[in-house]
Amino acid sequence: MPGIIVVGAQFGDEGKGKITDFLAKNADIVARYQGGNNAGHTVCAKETTLKLNHIPSGVLYEKEIMIGAGCLVDPRTLIKEIELIKKAGLRLRLTIDPRCHIIMPYHNLLDEAMESGENVEKIGTTKKGIGPAYADKALRQGIRFEDILNMEILEKKLGNVFEKKKQALEKVFGMKVTFTAQEIAKEYFSLGEKLAGYAGDVSLEVCNAVKKKKTVLFESAQGTFLDNDFGTYPYVTSSHPLTGGAAIGIGMPINNISRAIGVVKAYTSRVGEGPFPTELSGNESDMLREKGNEYGTVTGRPRRVGWLDIPMLRTACRLNGFTELALTKLDVLSGIKQVKAAIAYRTPKIRFRFFPYSNKGLEKAEPVYKTFPGFTLAGREKKFADLPKNAKTYLSFIEKELKTPISLISIGPERSQTIIAKK
Ligand code: IMP
Repeated sequence: MPGIIVVGAQFGDEGKGKITDFLAKNADIVARYQGGNNAGHTVCAKETTLKLNHIPSGVLYEKEIMIGAGCLVDPRTLIKEIELIKKAGLRLRLTIDPRCHIIMPYHNLLDEAMESGENVEKIGTTKKGIGPAYADKALRQGIRFEDILNMEILEKKLGNVFEKKKQALEKVFGMKVTFTAQEIAKEYFSLGEKLAGYAGDVSLEVCNAVKKKKTVLFESAQGTFLDNDFGTYPYVTSSHPLTGGAAIGIGMPINNISRAIGVVKAYTSRVGEGPFPTELSGNESDMLREKGNEYGTVTGRPRRVGWLDIPMLRTACRLNGFTELALTKLDVLSGIKQVKAAIAYRTPKIRFRFFPYSNKGLEKAEPVYKTFPGFTLAGREKKFADLPKNAKTYLSFIEKELKTPISLISIGPERSQTIIAKK
């Protein structure tokens, strides 16, 4: 089984980092295929806790780490992360595809500008410059990693685009741009020099590794419903976390993937704007947020929280072809008297079993809930059989509704709090 993909099945923050870290032990390579430093995850091993944005979790096992062409790189952030990893005494074996696009300082300003102002419909982005950088890629105005390795090319490319960005920022958004094209060319070339040793053809390396039957773990940076096409557009990110996105983001055939693991949080959370059918409010949401420590890793924003949403997950299974599920944060539900899960949405006219293609379809939709008796976990359970009966009932319900087996269950942040769900 050489190609294994790990994808968030909800709105992101499902705990992919922990699952990737767990699976990385038996992998040769861990590769990212989309997103940039809008992603954030905390990985803990005995004495090390690292908050990472660009680098996937396999780094704690000192595996080969790859950043595929479909990713964005903010060199300022990546260099800081590299320093952090080295300081923690970890060996870093990193390859960055030279085709990756670079987040430039004007992308950050544009993201900030587009999310400010009174009459603007906000997406609630991470303000890391993701949308503007992917837009420039599509416009063929982007700066690639290969470009910051060559001063002449970098100056030429910036010469073509910088003035347009400056004009937009100053004339449209009324911002003051305090840096010049020459200054950023100088800074980014020097950042490029620091990263040059990591440049390599990720597509070629991954394809060769799969041919040699090595295990490659692909990790999505965001969740299914933040996908630019199939998420709750426009409240989405600008790339493709879906399993299909990995083929393009790495540069490989889709049959390189033989196992697709959907990471499902035992409830739902969302950071940023956009539809959220099972969202809770008041005391219930405060309780779940505090128990689950649901605050954004990148921005620190309190996450919106709600019950598990089966129509959404059914859709995620269809979009991604999950062969199995990893259920995370089951411990957060521990001690709650009654646990709920939406099995459908109802409007005065229609009952939905799947997430509708349009946000409009959700406007008047009310979740139809199934209620489960609560359970209490000790946090030391080692196998499925050790779980309380009511927890087993909840998990079996999810498997049955989604027609997909749960292979991993996370009951706490530590590596040891992961159950391999053999029944
Ligand atoms: P952007 O990716 O920064 O442009 O943000 C677009 C939307 O995706 C916003 O709602 C963000 O909150 C959300 N988003 C981006 N990355 C993540 C993530 O890693 N976890 C959860 N939400 C994210």
